[in-house]
Amino acid sequence: MNYRHHFHAGNAADVLKHLILVQLLRRLADKPGGYCYLETHAGRGLYDLAGDPAQRSPEYLHGVNRLWQLTPDEPLLRDYMEQVRAHNPAAAGAPQRLRYYPGSPALARGLLRPQDRMVLCELHPEEHRALRGELAADPQVAIHRMDGYQGLRAFLPPPERRGLVLIDPPYERPDEFDVVLAAVRLAHQRFPTGLFALWYPIKAGAHLRAFRAAVVAAQIPKVLAVELVPTPEAQTDRLAGSGLLLINPPYRLDDALRRSLPLTLQRLDFREEGRDAGRWSVDWWTAERSPLRSPR
Ligand SMILES: C[S@@+](CC[C@H](N)C(=O)[O-])C[C@H]1O[C@@H](n2cnc3c(N)ncnc32)[C@H](O)[C@@H]1O
Repeated sequence: MNYRHHFHAGNAADVLKHLILVQLLRRLADKPGGYCYLETHAGRGLYDLAGDPAQRSPEYLHGVNRLWQLTPDEPLLRDYMEQVRAHNPAAAGAPQRLRYYPGSPALARGLLRPQDRMVLCELHPEEHRALRGELAADPQVAIHRMDGYQGLRAFLPPPERRGLVLIDPPYERPDEFDVVLAAVRLAHQRFPTGLFALWYPIKAGAHLRAFRAAVVAAQIPKVLAVELVPTPEAQTDRLAGSGLLLINPPYRLDDALRRSLPLTLQRLDFREEGRDAGRWSVDWWTAERSPLRSPR
C-alpha cells in the first residue's frame, strides 16, 4: 500500500468526485428518513494543502484552486465550493485563503443530518490514525481499520435501507478493475436499492472499453457513467481524467451534470499548457432494466 491521497487532494479527479458526492448527499436528504453513508476507501478526511506532501506535488493548483479563484455561477459548482470554503474560514480581517481540502469523509460529515450516520473504512495505519483524529469523537461516525471490500460484506445492507456507498480505491493493484467490479456486484446484490458511486481512473489504453463491457455484462441496471478528462488520453502517460460510475442515481442528476460539466472543464482547462481541449460525458451504460435481461 504505497498510495497516499494527500499528493492528489483537490486535483481535477477530486473535483469531479466531490462535486457529485455533494449532490448525491443533498438528494438523500430530500426525504426525512435517516440514511447511512458507507465509504470503503476513506483516506484521512481533511488535507492540509500547505503541508509537505501536497506542496511536493501540488495537483490542487490545477484542480480546486482554479475554482477557488473564480467559481462560475452554476448551482452544482457553487454548492461544492461552498463546502470547500466552509473548511477554510478566514482569520479576522484577513482574506479567505485555500489551505485545507476536505476529502469525502469531511464533505459528507458536513452534510449529515442528526438522523444520518456514516461508516468509514481505511486500511493504511497513518491515514486511519489521521481519520480517527478528525472524526472519531463524533457519535454519528464509525471508523474501521479494515479492507473496504470486506466492509461491503460487513455493513450492507444498512438497517436504514437508505444510503450511499462510495467506493474509491487507489487502483494500485493490476487487477483492481476486476476486484472492484466483483465487489460492486456483490454490494448491489446485498443492497439493490442503494445508491452507489465508484471512482475510476481514465488513462490511455483499452482498459476503459474492457471495463465498460464488463459493467454491461454484469447486468446491473441503472448505471450512469460521468467522465471528466481535462487532458486528452493520447497526450499524457499519466492520469488523463477520471469517471464516477453511479448506480441508481437520483432523478435528473444526469441533466444537472450535463449543465455543470462544461463549465467545470472550462475552469480546469489545460490548454494553456499546450495541450488540446479535454472532454466530458454523462452516459447511461445500462438502462432502468438491463437490456441483457429477458423481459418478464
Ligand atoms: C483515493 S484514496 C481515498 C480518498 C477519499 N475517498 C477522498 O475522496 O477523500 C484511497 C484510500 O484507500 C486506502 N486503501 C487502500 N487499500 C485499501 C483497502 N483495501 N481498504 C481500505 N482502504 C484502502 C488508501 O490508504 C487511501 O487512503
